[in-house]
Amino acid sequence: MCGIVGYIGHKQAYNILIQGLYRLEYRGYDSAGMALIKNNGILNVYKSKGKVANLEDEISGKDYEGTIGIAHTRWATHGIPNNTNAHPHTSQNGAIAIVHNGTIENYNILKEALIRHGYTFSSETDTEVLVQLIEYIKIKNKCTLFEAVREALKQVIGAYAIAVIEKDNPNVIIAARKSSPLIIGVGDDETFIASDATPIVGFTDKVIYLKDNEIAVINRNAPLQISSIENNEPSQLDIQELKMNVAQLEKGGYDTFMLKEIFEQANTLKDCIRGRISDNYEQIILSGVLENKDKFINANRIVIVACGTSWHAALIGKRLIQEMCLLPVEVEYASEFRYGNPFITNHDIVIAISQSGETADTLAAVQLAKSKGAFVYGICNVVGASIPRNTDSGTYIHVGPEIGVASTKAFTGQVTVLTLLALCAGQIRKTVKKETVQEIAKGLYQMPEIIQDVFKLDETIRNLSHTFTYARNFLYLGRGYNYPTALEGALKLKEISYIHAEGYPAAEIKHGPIALIDKEMPSVIIAPNDSLYDKIVSNVQQVKARGGFVIAITNKGNTAMKQIADYCLEIPEVPECLTPIVVSVPLQLLAYYIAIYKGQDVDRPRNLAKSVTVE
Ligand code: G6P
Repeated sequence: MCGIVGYIGHKQAYNILIQGLYRLEYRGYDSAGMALIKNNGILNVYKSKGKVANLEDEISGKDYEGTIGIAHTRWATHGIPNNTNAHPHTSQNGAIAIVHNGTIENYNILKEALIRHGYTFSSETDTEVLVQLIEYIKIKNKCTLFEAVREALKQVIGAYAIAVIEKDNPNVIIAARKSSPLIIGVGDDETFIASDATPIVGFTDKVIYLKDNEIAVINRNAPLQISSIENNEPSQLDIQELKMNVAQLEKGGYDTFMLKEIFEQANTLKDCIRGRISDNYEQIILSGVLENKDKFINANRIVIVACGTSWHAALIGKRLIQEMCLLPVEVEYASEFRYGNPFITNHDIVIAISQSGETADTLAAVQLAKSKGAFVYGICNVVGASIPRNTDSGTYIHVGPEIGVASTKAFTGQVTVLTLLALCAGQIRKTVKKETVQEIAKGLYQMPEIIQDVFKLDETIRNLSHTFTYARNFLYLGRGYNYPTALEGALKLKEISYIHAEGYPAAEIKHGPIALIDKEMPSVIIAPNDSLYDKIVSNVQQVKARGGFVIAITNKGNTAMKQIADYCLEIPEVPECLTPIVVSVPLQLLAYYIAIYKGQDVDRPRNLAKSVTVE
């Protein structure tokens, strides 16, 4: 949610910053901007409403010289997306520029105080308040930029990752963070800062993950200094190796990142299970669980917290863990959990699921659960992100960078890890049969091949999708393990095609949604050959009896379903608890092609951002 990037070094900053903005664009694309200092003390600030390409056009032909600069791509929180509200914001005297990701909660009080001191504001943003405050403190205290930023941050309540530069000092960037991510890339005579590692990849593989409440002074003529905002206590420089390559950040011949990520799933699932299933399928090796056996043996309850697609994975995880571990599991939206006075004890395990590892509500839920004594376990994708660094233990899904805003490969990775976790903990608790472990582990092992087979539906789904661009509403129905998959299918369609879609437990339609059914409302019904198959056939009949249009996802060779449904998408048969992984692929493709036929920008759907680092 908002991406920031900065550079100071021996190269011209512009190209690095613009490429960085493109890589961060998935975090927000309401507007973009850049500030560069020319060595003769000129600060050039450029801004543009809309996507990064607009900013590139805006700067083209202008003066973008400078070996120091900061840039921003925005997801609007305070103030509409326009040029005035775009970052960087500059202080009243034009000397200081800032980019910011986060929200300053007490900005109104600070703004009123600054107005009393004669400051005027041109934007509606909280960020402009911060830069004015920095200027005010700097002039009043006759101090350095570092001291002024540090002092200003002490007065700020809220979340931030910031980068600040000053016109007359082209040698220094000040960066700081609290509850919003910020990474420093350490190169040879050059330093990068960014909201995530993507703008840094290809330049250096040495990174420092700035911790909460830390401030960095990046001076081209002096060693990097990081210290605590609160008491100026110096921090150890914890340089880590970045394991990401440029190819992972490119579309690799696909039209969009989303399509690439859908088709990557056969491989990402391979990476996700690698080394985690023994040769004879008898053992699940999930170190985060095995190293904390006592916690899993003695747990009274598991609570899973997540947002968005990760919350849908959590719902599947609930069924898996209850079935394999005979433990009660609750699933909560992280945003509700954190303000819901949750009853958590030190006999609870709280699992936080997050692709980015940065979602503000999930991070806050993690911190709350820890403060109540729970053992907190993270299931994340982005290595080194805030959630994995704040949890007691956890498992990475290892599906590689997910750039398309609508989550695809992360969802199947999360469900895979949850399956492994349920089996591994079930083994430790002795609540799962050896044969069950073997059957499911084998099914997981074969999953990459199975997914490859499901990709053969691509053309059928593409052709079918064309029929549905007219639709204004869609219903997605499933039962058991596939009720959450129905929710996820509906979310995918909503996110990228802007067609209203509702996911529902199939049997519940009798209590309301059936009233909506007519020939203009297609229903996607997930009907694999599982323990609830006969029940879902009745639900299909109920929809058909009311003139509804049914697209059924069922197993290969199911001729009976072909007689009832209007279209059948046939998938290979897998153990029941693994059907969500297989079913989600045709659901992703269906949403994808409908959106493409409607002419939507699937990688950058309106109003959304991939990493939601504000409440
Ligand atoms: C945003 C993204 C979703 C994602 C959700 C939770 O809404 O657009 O794709 O599922 O955040 O993100 P997380 O990184 O915590 O899984």
